[in-house]
Amino acid sequence: MTPHRPFPIFSRILHWTMAVLVLAMLFIGIGMVSSVSAYHQLVAIHKPLGILVLVLVAIRLVNRLINPPPPLPEGMPQWQRFAALGSHVLLYVLMFAVPIVGWAMLSAARYPVVLYGALQLPPIMPQNPALFAVLRETHTVLALLLFATFLAHLGAALMHALIFRDDVFPSMTFWGLRDRAGTASGDRDSAAHASGTPALVKSE
Ligand code: HEM
Ligand code: HEM
Repeated sequence: MTPHRPFPIFSRILHWTMAVLVLAMLFIGIGMVSSVSAYHQLVAIHKPLGILVLVLVAIRLVNRLINPPPPLPEGMPQWQRFAALGSHVLLYVLMFAVPIVGWAMLSAARYPVVLYGALQLPPIMPQNPALFAVLRETHTVLALLLFATFLAHLGAALMHALIFRDDVFPSMTFWGLRDRAGTASGDRDSAAHASGTPALVKSE
């Protein structure tokens, strides 16, 4: 029997902070291109928040390499392991690609990427209207792909939480599994299934 453990606390904080930010960015993006009156205010929020996502995902990737996720449940079929890894890789790629393409497209049009006040980012592309057009389209397509991947991710998370009822969902929450950092070698199969103790330890 192997003890289960959650994601490290810093990984969970990053996951939920970024989940809020990325979802907000998707809705701000759609909102701003559909609005005439609020366009300028929304774009002024969209750019620095998008760059914040880029900074945070870089920190998150380094953190993931230093603190790897807990192993998946022992009995999980191979295709589900593949789907989990594949979708996580895709989410990481898109969390990098969408903001980089946003920055690159504005660079190609020589629009300023204002972070705050006079603080601006330098252009990362040569000025080129044709390149801007391609990158502008790419930004939309990748953002929609990010949304679609997130929906699949949410569906999988809910399957684990409500149908499989294993330790995958609680391993990412702040209340589901008691942190067993000291015995952090185990997997997320409900050790409780074998031992007869409750899988989810609710906090008081
Ligand atoms: C996680 C990061 C980001 C997400 C999820 C995101 C998402 C989106 C979405 C959904 C749209 C609307 C696309 C459409 O309907 O055509 C959009 C537009 C836009 N994004 Fe982003 N974006 C991100 C980062 C950035 C960054 C870092 C920048 C620039 C520094 C940026 C600049 C823009 C601009 C300027 C537009 C509107 C262009 C126009 O007026 O036509 N985005 N974004
Ligand atoms: C309400 C929405 C969300 C829920 C319920 C949720 C739930 C979860 C759960 C349960 C895990 C652990 C799964 C496993 O280990 O296989 C996880 C991991 C992960 N989630 Fe989410 N998630 C949500 C939103 C997001 C969003 C918006 C993103 C990014 C766009 C995201 C990216 C990731 C990534 C990359 C992992 C892999 C672990 C890591 O490196 O942090 N999640 N999520």
